[in-house]
Amino acid sequence: MRIEVVTIFPPMFDAVTHYGITGRAVDSGRLGLRFWNPRDYASDEYRRVDDRPYGGGPGMVMMAEPLAAALAAARKVAPEGTRVGVLSPQGRRLDHALVTELAQREHMILLAGRYEGIDERLLESAVDEEWSIGDYVLSGGELAAMVMIDAMTRQLPGALGNEQSAAQDSFVDGLLDCGHFTRPVEFAGRRVPEVLLSGDHEKIRRWRLKESLGRTWLRRPDLLADAKLSEEQTSLLEEFRREYVEHQEKQT
Ligand code: ADE
Repeated sequence: MRIEVVTIFPPMFDAVTHYGITGRAVDSGRLGLRFWNPRDYASDEYRRVDDRPYGGGPGMVMMAEPLAAALAAARKVAPEGTRVGVLSPQGRRLDHALVTELAQREHMILLAGRYEGIDERLLESAVDEEWSIGDYVLSGGELAAMVMIDAMTRQLPGALGNEQSAAQDSFVDGLLDCGHFTRPVEFAGRRVPEVLLSGDHEKIRRWRLKESLGRTWLRRPDLLADAKLSEEQTSLLEEFRREYVEHQEKQT
């Protein structure tokens, strides 16, 4: 996957370029990131990319021209038809399904805005899609772009090393992930669940699935309402609920 990122702060992206899973994906060539700084395309001697809003009001607005020039330069190196997406709180909210869909694309251009916003005419004329990472406001699109890049990279073939991991993440099957444990066997007076020490892979699989279902029921019942459960899942969730209720009753 190749991503052209238009940003006035390319160094912020060191976080994804040099660390962890995304850093490895860059090193192995699975992920290609290139940066286009609108300041390099500004026409005045101060390399200005923002100006006061027409009509007054607080904050500054990113000017259309330097952004358009940076986008045009990025488009030139990308295949014909490559789509341009902007990160903003007004965009379509990202979720697992959308991330998986976007991760299929071979090339994309991401525009990360700053200041109070981007001149609307640039958005209308040069941007195809708008994405949000949640209903809150960040100081700029860079962190949101990095969130997207990280989440999409997890879906690239071979990016995780262990092919199983992405398939077992939360949300993949519409459920939250189960808990995880490593050494020591006892910590803060709590033991690792015995079943995980049993070596019985089928039992462990069922226990994890049951935990996953139970957690989703307790923490995100909205996800369960949308999930189509198999017979096994339905009966494991039933078991979890029964045990949970029994446990609650014992406590009172
Ligand atoms: N830029 C500012 N806030 C944002 C958000 N919530 N999602 C994506 N981009 C943003």
